[in-house]
Amino acid sequence: MDTYLIRTFGCQMNKHDSERVAGLLNAQGMTPVSVAEDADVVVFMTCCVRENADERLRGQARSLKSTKAVRPGQLIAVGGCIGQRDGRRLVEQVPHLDVVFGTHNVASLPALLETARSQRLPQVEVWPEADGFASDLPTQREHPWHAWVPITIGCDNFCTYCIVPYVRGREKARPIEQIEAEVRQLVDDGVREVTLLGQNVNSYGRDLYGEPRFAQVLRVVADTGVDRIRFATSHPKDLSDDTIAAMAEVPAVMPYLHLPIQSGSDNVLAAMNRRYTREDYLGLVSRVRDAVPGLALSTDVIVGFPGETESDFDDTMDVLQQVGFDQAFTFIYSPREGTPAAALGEQVSREVSQPRFDRLVELVHSSAFANNRGLLGSVQPVLFEGVSKRDERTLAGRTPTNKVVHVAVPEGRLGAEFAGRILDAEITEAQTWFLGGKLLSAE
Ligand code: SAH
Ligand code: SF4
Ligand code: F3S
Repeated sequence: MDTYLIRTFGCQMNKHDSERVAGLLNAQGMTPVSVAEDADVVVFMTCCVRENADERLRGQARSLKSTKAVRPGQLIAVGGCIGQRDGRRLVEQVPHLDVVFGTHNVASLPALLETARSQRLPQVEVWPEADGFASDLPTQREHPWHAWVPITIGCDNFCTYCIVPYVRGREKARPIEQIEAEVRQLVDDGVREVTLLGQNVNSYGRDLYGEPRFAQVLRVVADTGVDRIRFATSHPKDLSDDTIAAMAEVPAVMPYLHLPIQSGSDNVLAAMNRRYTREDYLGLVSRVRDAVPGLALSTDVIVGFPGETESDFDDTMDVLQQVGFDQAFTFIYSPREGTPAAALGEQVSREVSQPRFDRLVELVHSSAFANNRGLLGSVQPVLFEGVSKRDERTLAGRTPTNKVVHVAVPEGRLGAEFAGRILDAEITEAQTWFLGGKLLSAE
């Protein structure tokens, strides 16, 4: 076993877990490759939040049957949320799997692969719960200057459409000293931006300290000297005034908030068990905007929740119009077995939900474009990621508000020199999903 390939689906939790899988396999002396034919081990980090994500694993695993034929001895491992949910059943349902590991079993992957190889028998390890917070695994980060830092795992909210609480278990916070120590280490290693992760970061600490302490996490993390702090996800019902104050007062906390609304209709929000109303949401948005000038806002929206009427959907369009989001991730409702919403009557047909979805996407494009136009002529500190995928004379980076900026690589310089640097750029072009600009100084 010399080479590996990881395919990652789903949310940032999975991206982070994939970085840990890469770190563990590197520590075994293995090296990453980019095509399955060259890989001795293929690892799928899977997601089951919607049906299409669920199906992709089965399609991809089937197609690996042929690479197994050209590469005898290739091992296929499935981790992430489908591994956690289905465990041993997966080995029976999907042929050619060698290892299934749960979301709490990442550390066991090298040993499971070794046993599967030597015994030629599929290995399954899925613990129902975590025993503590695994934080000392090696990590191979995608960018040297960025790190994902999980602060909670699991979720207690049980939104009626959502499978995550059933798969990832109850919310568990990581002790604040552990978070601080990890970020200090990361800063020593050259990390400039951290993204704090949890299904609902705003309730951080409730299990551990008896009260939410997310605002304190923001302040403690900022004290490490890291340049930029981002976080996801915020549940509107738990976004406290303390947290808003920390966002306003702590310069390293970026002026960007991902605040999933899911629907603009009070009826639908109640049926979803979201525990806020459209007025609560709008009030919250205006409080955060007042406190944090220049704030960018993104959201998640589900279209076609069971029972959603045309008038419910109009309420959603109306709220989105009022807020003017910078970005929105829009999803057509997908029934998930075992969740309360899947058992409701009145499922909305695709013929009804698809046109609603299309209208929503159009609205999101227009607000994103309008907001970007508002940045024309402004000067933004951009954290550069490196050269753009399409053109090696173009640098790509992000503004504090998380918008992608493209600038030309200065004459006589290499794009790679700029990765991980923060430099001022003047914004000269606005598109829906990116900005163009020019560097004010390359030094
Ligand atoms: N904990 C986060 C994200 C969870 S999953 C949060 O609360 O925002 C990411 C998004 O997927 C959700 O915000 C929701 O918009 C969407 N989603 C979850 N379950 C879904 C389902 N069954 N059908 C369609 N979209 C769903
Ligand atoms: Fe799912 Fe709701 Fe938890 Fe987010 S907060 S993971 S949508 S149950
Ligand atoms: Fe998907 Fe699991 Fe994340 S279901 S969205 S990978 S928590």
